Amino acid sequence: MQKILVARPIFPDVIERLKQYFDVDWNQGEVLSAQELTRRLADKDGALTAGDPVGPAVLAAAPRLRVVSNMAVGYNNFDMAAFNAANVLGTNTPDVLNESTADFGWALMMAAARRIAESEHWLRAGQWRKWTYDGFLGTDLYGSTLGVLGMGRIGQALARRAKGFNMQVIYHNRSRVAPEIEAELNAQYVSKQDLLRRADHVVLVLPYTKENHHTIGAAELAQMKPTATLTNIARGGIVDDAALVEALRTGKIAAAGLDVFEGEPNLNPALLTVPNVVLTPHIASATEATRRAMANLAADNLIAALGKGPRAGRPPNPINPEVIGKARS
Ligand code: DGY
Repeated sequence: MQKILVARPIFPDVIERLKQYFDVDWNQGEVLSAQELTRRLADKDGALTAGDPVGPAVLAAAPRLRVVSNMAVGYNNFDMAAFNAANVLGTNTPDVLNESTADFGWALMMAAARRIAESEHWLRAGQWRKWTYDGFLGTDLYGSTLGVLGMGRIGQALARRAKGFNMQVIYHNRSRVAPEIEAELNAQYVSKQDLLRRADHVVLVLPYTKENHHTIGAAELAQMKPTATLTNIARGGIVDDAALVEALRTGKIAAAGLDVFEGEPNLNPALLTVPNVVLTPHIASATEATRRAMANLAADNLIAALGKGPRAGRPPNPINPEVIGKARS
């Protein structure tokens, strides 16, 4: 029987599905260190990960490994050059999380714009004595301009929701989306600089790559409106968190909503000291239904990639399909 590692705690019924096909080594404890991950992959044919870094050293120490299935749409934890060199397939879980993640982007953006977390903390601290005309004044969403940086599937789902708020949608992306999508979303393609200058609410929905490291730093924050908000539901590292703290402190922008952080789960401690930022622990896709769909899709990818189940040999979401059928190197 082929052996697999499930590197993280996931829904037990998904483990039961995997056990129908494989001998499963399931890590139900803390996140595995690189050393422990390497050790446990040494005799495995496949793995299911969720953000665990997999690079050349791990692959070299796992000569039987043919597939690593990531339970996430983002796969910046995979060194794809190393996967390709070793003929190891990587898979991810796109689409099933689009709507939940877009909903959450709105939740964070609204919480930042309307100072929901900040005012709630103040209320809980027993500081509310009377209603005042200027208590926690925020910025409007209705009728404002939404700037979407990264117009992939999640960016489009997010932009689609802007109609109900009568917002003008501007976006920037590596490449322009199809004219029919622009028309449907009523979205206008602009340069990154234009987007930063014009948007009342900027939302980041782009993948993390070396090129996207600190896409939003001090210079970009300085271009934004002092009344603007910034929301990051993409990946830590896209924003320079230290520069963001400074911008929030000095009023370069009004507020921010962050679900992802540089070096998470260890945050820049200064973030905890600024009131005008809403912080959540990487939960944009965290609804019961969506996380189940992600776990099942990650299992489908693994089962099919290892030649089992109804889609044997045809995993639904290959990242590097060119290695399918090639001998492990
Ligand atoms: C994703 O799917 O990439 C989410 O951020 C969860 O990691």
